Amino acid sequence: MKIKFRIRRYNPADAETPEPYYQAYSVEVSEGMTVLEALLKIEEEEDPTLSFRKSCRSAICGSCAMTVNGFARLTCSLQILPEYKKMGEMTIEPLANYRPIKDLVVDMEPFWSKIDKVTPYLTPTEKSIGNPVTAEAQERIDDSQRCIMCGCCNAECNSLEIDGYFIGPAASAKAWRFVGDIREGQEGRRLAKLSEEHGVWDCVRCIHCTQYCPKDVKPLKQIELLRSAAMKEGILENPGAKHVAAMADSVERVGRLDEAAMTFKTLGFLRSLGMIPMGIKLELHGKMPHPYIRPQIDKIDEVRKVYEEIDRKAGRKPGKKKE
Ligand code: SF4
Ligand code: SF4
Ligand code: FES
Repeated sequence: MKIKFRIRRYNPADAETPEPYYQAYSVEVSEGMTVLEALLKIEEEEDPTLSFRKSCRSAICGSCAMTVNGFARLTCSLQILPEYKKMGEMTIEPLANYRPIKDLVVDMEPFWSKIDKVTPYLTPTEKSIGNPVTAEAQERIDDSQRCIMCGCCNAECNSLEIDGYFIGPAASAKAWRFVGDIREGQEGRRLAKLSEEHGVWDCVRCIHCTQYCPKDVKPLKQIELLRSAAMKEGILENPGAKHVAAMADSVERVGRLDEAAMTFKTLGFLRSLGMIPMGIKLELHGKMPHPYIRPQIDKIDEVRKVYEEIDRKAGRKPGKKKE
């Protein structure tokens, strides 16, 4: 069966076509053939100028990630026929959220510099290095250890799309690999750094990283583990931790989110003033929560019982935040 491949070409060094364009190739496809095999066939038989990265062809080196039909995929493990049957096309483009260099090759430098920022190796103390690596301790970091550095998660990250400084899902998963390691000795320092601006609190929980990771690393889960560990460590003076505390407080008090109060508690008075234009827009669309009338839900006692149970299990005295 012949299938048309639509491939995004780009060669800024070519004076005739310095802008990206799409080129079509017709490829004879057989059962089990992968997208990477089709690209190799095009390169070998039709067009040796087509550029793309690959190495292991076994889904372990992470180098062949590209955008296939709009989503980040490992091309060496993606079979063409089921994909074509599902999507009705085969469009291959470079990974999103990265700068294309030539054709399907992107600049991975920002990816590696983010990994570098999280100190991707153990920094044990004399005391922590001897901690026994039990099966249970190992299980905590099992998911994050599966990462093959393909970059698919960063390509699909909605937060990275608007803020290139965000540490991103891949580096966050790598950070948990070491924060969660029983032999690590400097978790506090790592968590404080990860809680700074552009750190783990900038994730908007869209779940794309987990959805598109080909190795089931679940980067969002690792981000949540880092956030929770940071709060347990007492790193609370940042908008993310304040937002979580304000949310929990609001639900305990009135049984629902009191968004106006949460804005003040999260951002503080001065920074909240910057939200006034958005508040006006919400008001005009009838979506502005009233800042003073916050009706408490009918069964608030049941919500508070949940909080009391959480406090009891954690060995804390029940909070007294009721109105
Ligand atoms: S869940 Fe967070 S880190 Fe993952 S893709 Fe969405 S914004 Fe990015
Ligand atoms: S977390 Fe998953 S998607 Fe992200 S770089 Fe690692 S293997 Fe790739
Ligand atoms: S070529 Fe190595 S992961 Fe695809």
